[in-house]
Amino acid sequence: MHRLLLLSAVVSSAASQAPPCPLPADVLASDYPSPWAKGGLMDKWKDGANDWIKCPDHFIAKLTADSKAFSFGSSYYCNSTSGKWMERGSKFQAPAFVSPVTYPTGTAKKYCPITHTPSNGASGWIALYSGHEQYCPAGEIPTLATDGKISKSITCQDNGKLSIVAEDGSVTYPFHPTLKCIRAPPPPPCPPLGTCTEADVKKRFGPSAVYGAPTITPSKGSCSSPTGKLVYLKVRSE
Ligand SMILES: *[C@@H]1O[C@H](CO)[C@@H](O)[C@H](O)[C@H]1NC(C)=O
Repeated sequence: MHRLLLLSAVVSSAASQAPPCPLPADVLASDYPSPWAKGGLMDKWKDGANDWIKCPDHFIAKLTADSKAFSFGSSYYCNSTSGKWMERGSKFQAPAFVSPVTYPTGTAKKYCPITHTPSNGASGWIALYSGHEQYCPAGEIPTLATDGKISKSITCQDNGKLSIVAEDGSVTYPFHPTLKCIRAPPPPPCPPLGTCTEADVKKRFGPSAVYGAPTITPSKGSCSSPTGKLVYLKVRSE
C-alpha cells in the first residue's frame, strides 16, 4: 500500500513538471526574407497561470519545413489544454517553426500585411515578403479568403499591397487582405485527341509551357496535336 502511494506521487509530480507546450523549431537563417537577421534569444517566463514566449524584436516563422518564411510580433502563452502556443488577444496559434530576428536599423521595412486564416483555429496578423509569398505548406496555395476565387499568382509589392492574379485572370491589389491556404487544384485534364491548341497546352500545363514541336525535349508532359501526333512541352523555368 505504501509503495503504491509513493509510485502514484512520483507519477503525478512528473506529469505536472512536463512542459505542456514544446518550443517551436528554429527557422534556418538562410530561409529568412531579406534583410532580417538572427536576433537575440527568445524570452521565456511564467506568470503563475501560463508559460510565455516572446522575442526582443520580431519572429520569423514557417508553417511547415517546406513553406516560405514570414514575420510577426507579439508574445505567446502556452495553452496547457491544447499544448499549443497562442497569441494573447487573437488566440492565433504560433507556427511550428519560429525564430527571434532583428531588422537592420535605418532600413525601411517593406512587407505586405495579411490576416492568415488557418483551416482550424483563430486568424492572425502576419507579414509576407517579396519572393516569400508562398507561405502555405507544399501542395497548398495562398488565396483570398473573401471572394471564392483561386489565386494563380500572388506578389508582395513595395507599397505593401499584394498583387493577386486569380485563375480567371482578374487582378486585385488588396492592402492587408485575409488569406487562407487551400489545396492547389489539379490541372485541367488534357483535351481529347485531335483538339490540342497552344491555348489548351497553356491551360493544361500553365502559362510558361511552350507549345512546341516533337524535337523539343519533353520535360513536363505532352498533349496531342490537331494532327493526332504528340506535341512535347518544355517549361521555360526549367
Ligand atoms: C485552449 O485550447 C482549447 C482547445 O483548443 C480552447 O478551447 C481554449 O479556449 C483555449 N484556452 C485559452 C485560454 O486560450
